[in-house]
Amino acid sequence: MTSDTAIEEAEAAIARLATPPMIEDPYPLYDAIRRVDRVYESTTLGAYAVTGYKEVNAAARMGNMKNGVRAATTQRADWQEHASLRLFLRALVNLDAPEHPAMREVASSVFTPKAIREMRESVEVLARRFVDDLAEQAKDGRPVDLVPTVASPFPVAVICEMLGVPDSQGMLFYKLANDWTRVWGGGNYSEEELAQADESVMELRGYFSELFEERRAERRDDLISAMLDQHDAGRIDDEDLMALATFLFISGFETTTNLISTSIYTLLENPDQLELWRRNPDVTASAVEELIRHGTPISGTVRLTGEDIELGGKEIPAGRMLFLMTAGANRDPAQFTDPDRLDLTRNEGGHVSFGGGPHYCLGANLARMEAQVVLPLIINRFSSIEVGGEVEWRTAIGLHGFEHLPLTLSE
Ligand code: HEM
Repeated sequence: MTSDTAIEEAEAAIARLATPPMIEDPYPLYDAIRRVDRVYESTTLGAYAVTGYKEVNAAARMGNMKNGVRAATTQRADWQEHASLRLFLRALVNLDAPEHPAMREVASSVFTPKAIREMRESVEVLARRFVDDLAEQAKDGRPVDLVPTVASPFPVAVICEMLGVPDSQGMLFYKLANDWTRVWGGGNYSEEELAQADESVMELRGYFSELFEERRAERRDDLISAMLDQHDAGRIDDEDLMALATFLFISGFETTTNLISTSIYTLLENPDQLELWRRNPDVTASAVEELIRHGTPISGTVRLTGEDIELGGKEIPAGRMLFLMTAGANRDPAQFTDPDRLDLTRNEGGHVSFGGGPHYCLGANLARMEAQVVLPLIINRFSSIEVGGEVEWRTAIGLHGFEHLPLTLSE
């Protein structure tokens, strides 16, 4: 029998998680929910909060699920009048069957494992360039913010190169994209933010239209050209082309930025693990996997049951919303020994940071590669790294990373 106090704690945890700003250590909140139930029907949420590892994994893989963010966004009667919401709902991640498998096939034929592997050399060159910048700025001993020097511009530069977006436009697109992502939460945004998102999306569309025109005139060896081939073969229409290109662009940096900043901070909080990695470069692959588990750059995803289901021993009717709390699942003690501990040599099976099932992250291997290249460069280049001022966490619900992370570094 669950006590009233435990239920009150779970509801308070849910209310806190649903209200900006996000906090540095949300994990005790997920524990409070999981303690009551791994699949918990919350009155505050009017939905189920899923924090168990097995249950999140199972729900993500069920074929009879719909996208919860789509359902929440379309509750707004005038959503079709907003350019930002219209394009967002056309993005791959927000499509349901039968549109999703068709678009996923097109996206996978463009964003291939081979295309990702071939980026390796460029990723190394770009990482060195941004870490050199960091070293240059850190020379006089003053704190340097890791976010605008490396954590943001490096993944932006990588995805720009893959897509074929000119380097010089990368950070402008980044700003426009950030305005857009403020309305991605399903409803948790102001009317001003929505107006700004609409304006920025129109501007972003203008730039991408120009890029499409340039590539129509002359194809290159980039993903914009590959997407145009798919368009010309009749597999996607104009609007799908725009939605796919802009969504791939944003997915390419929004989360990896968080992964880089959170990983460096977490390593500084765990100096024994930082030293272990410096001494054993061989642990890089498992180190990055552990940092992706421990930091969970996207805290969760939302699903709507398409029919009656059974999850974690519960009968859940069709039409109910499930919050798949991947950040909670990644700290589930039933799956991971001492889950809050950072252990770069951990080998206990996969995390759920990249989701699972039909919407499994298409860029997982790109994100891994970027982290495997840039993190060792940073920790081995600087013999001393310390937090050098007030840190600021990102406020957006669902994203776990830094807005500002000032560091003092010496080589
Ligand atoms: C650490 C970095 C990243 C994390 C944690 C992450 C996480 C996720 C998650 C959780 C999903 C599933 C969302 C859902 O089920 O509703 C997803 C989907 C997706 N991700 Fe990532 N991602 C990362 C990096 C990237 C990168 C670098 C790209 C490359 C462009 C990318 C492209 C995508 C795409 C296209 C989808 C949609 C797949 C679909 O709906 O079929 N991601 N990602």
